[in-house]
Amino acid sequence: MSSNTNARQSWKVPASIISKRTSNPIRAIVDHIKVKPNANKSMISLALGDPTLFGNFKIHETCTEAVSKQLHSYKSNGYPPSTGYLHARQAVADKFTLPAAPLVAQDVIITSGCSGAFCNEGDNILLPRPGFSLYQTLADSKGVEVRYYDLLPENNWEMDLKQLESLIDDRTATVVMNNPSNPCGSVFRKQHLLDFLAVCERNHLPVIADEIYCDLVFSGNEFFPLASLTTTVPVLAVGGLAKKYLVPGWRVGWIFIHDRNNIFNAEVREGLNSLSQLILGSNSLIQAALPDILHKTDPAFYDETRVQLEASAKLSTDILSKVPGLKVIVPQGAMYVMISIDIAQFKDIPNDIVFTEKLLGEESVMCLPGSVFQCPNFIRIVFTSPSEVLQEAYTRMAEFCARHHV
Ligand SMILES: Cc1ncc(COP(=O)(O)O)c(C=O)c1O
Repeated sequence: MSSNTNARQSWKVPASIISKRTSNPIRAIVDHIKVKPNANKSMISLALGDPTLFGNFKIHETCTEAVSKQLHSYKSNGYPPSTGYLHARQAVADKFTLPAAPLVAQDVIITSGCSGAFCNEGDNILLPRPGFSLYQTLADSKGVEVRYYDLLPENNWEMDLKQLESLIDDRTATVVMNNPSNPCGSVFRKQHLLDFLAVCERNHLPVIADEIYCDLVFSGNEFFPLASLTTTVPVLAVGGLAKKYLVPGWRVGWIFIHDRNNIFNAEVREGLNSLSQLILGSNSLIQAALPDILHKTDPAFYDETRVQLEASAKLSTDILSKVPGLKVIVPQGAMYVMISIDIAQFKDIPNDIVFTEKLLGEESVMCLPGSVFQCPNFIRIVFTSPSEVLQEAYTRMAEFCARHHV
């Protein structure tokens, strides 16, 4: 018998409020797909933005050697500082500093994720639609209201800046922009970025620039780091090893604090440091290997990855743009293509979710419905599979569309 008069009489372990309001739209929609793949056809998934799945995108040996060197040094097995080892922050700053957007080690935080930096419960945050679904998950989890600004497919997915500006009020904490884009595969023109910065300037709105796909751009396009185009709008830029170095599982990313005029002041910088302490530092081995990874990787590696991605983008566009009922928005970078489904041209497919389900059930091809990115009647394809796999998947998709066409 407990002497504690407040003792509980039975087990009661409720899930926390935070856990209940945390949900990834991808899981919310995809987990409801009950259709099983066609057992007579091999499964092809074009759904996961992970370039390592098929082994056709090879990481550079400098990266493996750099990690192996750290492993055998026995010097990087402890807890790193929560903001990252100083030499790792220095290596990142040296790699990414630009005359127009200078960085020193103190402007770099080695981590992943920064969405809590300026927002309080009750504030709102502007997110792109379509956009990476984790932004919404993080905002919902923190009790921050999400307001979506539209990306326009007819303009290569540029931001609808008028609509974006109309969403801003005095509780708008920040705007997230993503360039090059997941899921759109778009790359913003310099003038468009300048126009966007003008809106932010007019409204005193700091920006979180998700540039994880930096430099993964195809011929005729150029990547401009947002911070290099402004001296006045404060920018937190987010990047990492995941995509450009083809190692998403290594879990090392970074935040750059670009704030030439001390608008963030000491409090926000301190806040970012505090938030970084929620996790006891990111992976010690990988961050210790950053100086070698960033500074010794043969530049040819970046070109090879880009060329390989561009060839896959072209193959996807060439085949799928000939399929009646589908319209390809030609990708300019990253590893994704969004395809518009003209629902009116299909006799028994009322929306993107049914399209995805039937395609899986009949052809064992999995792609994500645009609805998971807040963009109905589109599908997103990841084109990192080997070309023969892509060809097989697209042949099946073409047969599927022909079968269901009016
Ligand atoms: C737009 C975007 N931002 C961030 C990430 C996640 O990056 P990391 O693996 O470094 O957390 C992804 C991953 O797919 C992404 O598409």
